[in-house]
Amino acid sequence: MQSFKTIADLRAHLTPLRQRKIASRIAPQIALVPTMGALHAGHLELVRRARKAADHVVVSIFVNPAQFAPHEDFQSYPRDVVRDAQAVADLKLDNVALFTPDVAEIYPAAPRTQIELGDIATRWDGAARPGHFAGVALVVTKLFNIAQPGIALFGEKDFQQLQIIRQITRDLSIPVEITGVPTAREASGLALSSRNAYLSDEERNIIAPKLHQTLQNAAEQIRAGKDIEQTLQKAKQDLTAAGFNAPDYFAYVDSETLTPLSRLSPLASRLLTAARLGKARLIDNIAVT
Ligand code: PAF
Repeated sequence: MQSFKTIADLRAHLTPLRQRKIASRIAPQIALVPTMGALHAGHLELVRRARKAADHVVVSIFVNPAQFAPHEDFQSYPRDVVRDAQAVADLKLDNVALFTPDVAEIYPAAPRTQIELGDIATRWDGAARPGHFAGVALVVTKLFNIAQPGIALFGEKDFQQLQIIRQITRDLSIPVEITGVPTAREASGLALSSRNAYLSDEERNIIAPKLHQTLQNAAEQIRAGKDIEQTLQKAKQDLTAAGFNAPDYFAYVDSETLTPLSRLSPLASRLLTAARLGKARLIDNIAVT
């Protein structure tokens, strides 16, 4: 498996591949799987799906400082590129390359350009982590410009991020198809996340799975026509009683705009939540309709 650290080297690798299109194949030539490393089974499923969807795959591993606030875990975020490279190699897929740039390669100078994302980025995780989605938008747009993929794949666990990336590509006419992939879960229902490494065994096995269970219960209540506000309040109380800190939010929203809904929607709708447990901040979501 080839691995590239610079934009120039990755582009030199990809340019001839783009020109050598197999005439009989209508699939995109290049798929991008952007990650911050600490790869788990969810990421590896994105790589498998990417390779099915395209002739060549680029997996980027870059812990993006622009999406961390000064008090957040940028320094301590789990990093193990050697292990990550082995995990991707173990998939035994051909035509998969790694892109593992340093911070100075992506940000040779402090970036002054910002992408204004509007309302979708100021609520939920955007309210709890001001500036986070601006940092995500910046790096993902840069990665799109660097790799120029025909398709890019993201996990649905970060549902707000996924919808923001869809908005960016639509609003800026970036010629890339965005594919959301269902959240990979442990048998307990806990969504796989690199930050699960911060949990103790008890937190991980006993308390954390209650996030998904509470989402499932609330979704059933809402589908059954129960009062939305009461259902959301009860879900927050259940999480606090289970051992989480008071949730940052537990919200019922329109799946595209992420605006809050006060009654059962006939359109696609979702429950979103985020709550801190011990040293980890966990997020999860579930489709309601
Ligand atoms: O979801 C992530 O891992 C990151 O937010 C992403 C999309 C790789 C951008 O840094």
